[in-house]
Amino acid sequence: MNATRIGPSLLAADFAHLADDIERVERGGADFLHLDVMDGHFVPNISFGLPVVAAVRQTTRLELNTHLMLQDPLPFIGPFKEAGSDSLVVHVELESVQAVLDAIRQHGLQCGLAVNPSTPVSALYPYLDELNSALVMSVEPGFGGQAFQPAALDKIRDLCAEIERRGLDIPVGIDGGVQPGNAAACRRAGAQCLVAGSAVFSAQDPARVIADLRG
Ligand code: DX5
Ligand code: ZN
Repeated sequence: MNATRIGPSLLAADFAHLADDIERVERGGADFLHLDVMDGHFVPNISFGLPVVAAVRQTTRLELNTHLMLQDPLPFIGPFKEAGSDSLVVHVELESVQAVLDAIRQHGLQCGLAVNPSTPVSALYPYLDELNSALVMSVEPGFGGQAFQPAALDKIRDLCAEIERRGLDIPVGIDGGVQPGNAAACRRAGAQCLVAGSAVFSAQDPARVIADLRG
C-alpha cells in the first residue's frame, strides 16, 4: 500500500500572501498542490485562472494538480500546461470527456477524472484504462469550506474494488470537506490522495494538520 498523499487546495489560501502560504504547506509536508479553476458556468463560482497558476509555478517545485471546473476545458489544456500544471483533473459530467482526456494525454500531462456527488461512480468505469488518477467529490464543486458528504466513502470503496478487479493501479483521491476528523475513514475506504483546503490553510500549524491527515 502506497503512502497517502496530501494536497492542500489553494482555494483556501490567503491570495494576498500566496507565496507565504505555499511555503508554509510545502515546509509542512504537502505532497502536491491542488488548484481549483472555476469558470462560473460549470460551477456557480469563479476562482482563478492561468496567470495565477503561472505565478504559483514560480514559487514551488511541488506537483501542480489543476482541477478544471470548466464547461469547455478543451481549448485550455495547452495553456494550463504552458502555465506549469503537471496534472489536470476534469469532470466525467462533461459532454466531451473522451476528447478532453485525449487532449490531456496528447499534451503529455497526467490526467485525472472527477465525479460529482450526484453522479454514480460507475460513470468513471469506461475511462479507467486511460487515467492516472480518479477523484471522488465529497462536496458539490464550486466552493471551499463545505461539509463532507459521507456518501463519498461508499463511492471510493466501489471504485477501488473495480480498479483492483481490473488489475489497474490508479490512485483514488477525495476532494471536499476533508479534515483530520474524517481522514481516517477516507483512507480506510481506499483514498490514497486527500485534497484539503480550509482544514490546512485555516490551521495555525499546517504541518500538524497535514501529518494528521496522512495518519
Ligand atoms: C471544491 C473544490 C475543492 C475545495 C476543497 O469545488 O474542488 O478542492 O477547494 O476545499 P475544502 O477542503 O475547504 O472543502
Ligand atoms: Zn478541487
